[in-house]
Amino acid sequence: MDACCGIGGDFLALARAGCTVAAVDTDPLTVAVARANAEALGLGDRVTVSVGDAAEVRPEEYDVLFADPARRTGRGRTFDPMAYSPPWPVVLDLISRASRACVKVAPGIPYEFIPAGAEAEWVSYKGEVKEAALWTGQEGAGRRATLLPGGHTLTATGAEAPVGPAGRYVYEPDGAAIRAHLVGEVSEIVNGRLLDPMIAYITGDDPIDTPWAARYEIEDILPFSGKKLRAALRERQVGNVTIKKRGSAVDIERLRADLRLNGEKSATIILTRILDKPSVIICDTSPPA
Ligand SMILES: C[S@@+](CC[C@H](N)C(=O)[O-])C[C@H]1O[C@@H](n2cnc3c(N)ncnc32)[C@H](O)[C@@H]1O
Repeated sequence: MDACCGIGGDFLALARAGCTVAAVDTDPLTVAVARANAEALGLGDRVTVSVGDAAEVRPEEYDVLFADPARRTGRGRTFDPMAYSPPWPVVLDLISRASRACVKVAPGIPYEFIPAGAEAEWVSYKGEVKEAALWTGQEGAGRRATLLPGGHTLTATGAEAPVGPAGRYVYEPDGAAIRAHLVGEVSEIVNGRLLDPMIAYITGDDPIDTPWAARYEIEDILPFSGKKLRAALRERQVGNVTIKKRGSAVDIERLRADLRLNGEKSATIILTRILDKPSVIICDTSPPA
């Protein structure tokens, strides 16, 4: 049962995977489009779409409940599950009555909204966090991160990252792992430690290749100062910088303009806090490709 099916993007994938799907949506035009999509793709015999309210759905009658509630209101995208449509209490009620359920939610869903016993999965596509899903009625409850298109998946083991001094590399974990609170697990993979206990930059001594983190080679770490940074980059003939930040309030575009760089080389700079000190890490200075 797809309890708020929209134009069918998800149920078409379910039907293609061999499921028989019943679907409802409150909006008659959307339902018409969903039906037309199913017919056009030759999946009409696997899918029944009707106009209906998710609140009226009886999840007990289906093997699996799926819901992708609307996360937009008249004022744009909403991050508050209470403003979803169908509303969150309806979604929770459906989940509680379903033998198995999968509900798509915004990646920024506050942890307190995750029902007890559900597995929460954050998904990124090509390095950008796109979505989260809550799964119930299956083995494994906890947190998971999944990377698409590769399909790598990482589950919480409770690993805690130590904190320690900068090594040769800095690793930036994929956003899905950060959202799923799996920085400790990623740190274990790269044999690393955190530069600061509150910030998700990992440092390590070995060049570990992993889909779970981008790796940068550290050249220098300076206390943050626009002037000193400009001097350090000029000295290295860096004209082109990729600026990353985490735990820093610096306005990246303003800093870029203030740096007034010109030079042949490129570099990545990371603005962060290291043990509470605003810092900048200069990495990967290289000639232009
Ligand atoms: C995010 S869209 C679903 C998109 C869909 N999964 C797809 O792949 O195309 C959410 C849908 O929920 C529908 N909706 C909102 N409130 C509803 C309710 N109470 N009952 C059923 N459908 C509802 C909206 O009309 C909208 O089409």
